[in-house]
Amino acid sequence: MTTRASPAILIVEDERIVAMDLQQSLTEMGYDAFAIAASGDEAMARATERRPDVVLMDIRIKGRSDGIETAAALKRQFPISVIYLTAHADEGMVDRAKVTEPHGYLVKPVKLAELRSMLEIALYKSGLERQLRESHEITRQLAQRLETVREEERRAVAVALHDGIAQDLFAMKLGLNYLDAFANKGSRIKKVCRELTHAVTQCMEETRQVANELRPVALAYSRLSAVVAEHARHFGKHANLNITVTESAEFPQLAEPMQLLLFRSAQEALTNVARHARATAVHIVLRTGSGRIMMEVSDDGVGIADDAASKPRSLGLLGLRERFTALGGGLSVRRTEPTGTSLTVYLPNPPGDLTRAA
Ligand SMILES: Nc1ncnc2c1ncn2[C@@H]1O[C@H](COP(=O)(O)OP(=O)(O)OP(=O)(O)O)[C@@H](O)[C@H]1O
Ligand SMILES: [Mg+2]
Repeated sequence: MTTRASPAILIVEDERIVAMDLQQSLTEMGYDAFAIAASGDEAMARATERRPDVVLMDIRIKGRSDGIETAAALKRQFPISVIYLTAHADEGMVDRAKVTEPHGYLVKPVKLAELRSMLEIALYKSGLERQLRESHEITRQLAQRLETVREEERRAVAVALHDGIAQDLFAMKLGLNYLDAFANKGSRIKKVCRELTHAVTQCMEETRQVANELRPVALAYSRLSAVVAEHARHFGKHANLNITVTESAEFPQLAEPMQLLLFRSAQEALTNVARHARATAVHIVLRTGSGRIMMEVSDDGVGIADDAASKPRSLGLLGLRERFTALGGGLSVRRTEPTGTSLTVYLPNPPGDLTRAA
């Protein structure tokens, strides 16, 4: 035996003598068979008090639910392994049982050597599954952290552009105006002043635009549709897309982190249209319905391929899906008829914990 803590086993069996016999054998094998439950309700109560590593589940038990229903309910609630025990292994039963993804299936009377090897395999596999769940959770947290850091950096660069470079450009423009006023009419100096003033004005506009793309300050106080429409106007011009934005009357004014999340989604969706869709028009709709706040971005392009959203190197949709799911919402994407793609992101209405959105 290794030095691991004794694995916790819950026995769900309504024949008292059989259950106690099993419990004793398991204890002798070094397992912690900590409880016996005679019904589904009792099994749920015992598992809630203490989470078992493995449940040995008789399929035919007394009470409202049989062993298969009980196992399904337990697995929905806890990350546990199930081994079924039954006197009759008919095909229909096996078909029902396999949907609950058991780690094994033993026919009664149980042979102890078989039980031990099945338990060991179940424990080994559940250890691997736990590691997988943990590493998925770490990846999720890393992705969230990455997103937060990106937003902080965008905000810092936007502030530097706005408070530093934009102010310097403004000072330069004032200086040029001053020189212009002193230069002789029609002189070479006056012409250069005018050209430089034009270039500096353009530079100021571009700086303002870049700062705004990085972090639209208007998100804090404007309607989301207005900020998205402003982005769409510039984006559409460069990408040669005709973009419309509509908002239904009941669409709520959201807190800034939510506005930012939806704005980033619109940016990603439009970038995707420009990169992948070969579309001419995009329609963005902000609306509510079925207890949800939704944003739909539909284009008239070639249509997304069936397996596109799961491309290993594509992180745009994956990242958005993670962020919306973490807030109780989600993302769906589908091809539309006769052509095009429609992407929908949604949040519960009213939205929950706002602090995790940014
Ligand atoms: N509007 C669209 N029309 C057609 N195909 C699309 C559309 N949007 C996404 N796709 C497809 O879905 C894939 C996944 O999109 P996703 O945004 O996740 O990744 P990406 O754009 O390829 O890369 P990135 O990680 O830089 O966002 C794309 O590679 C593309 O094939
Ligand atoms: Mg993308």
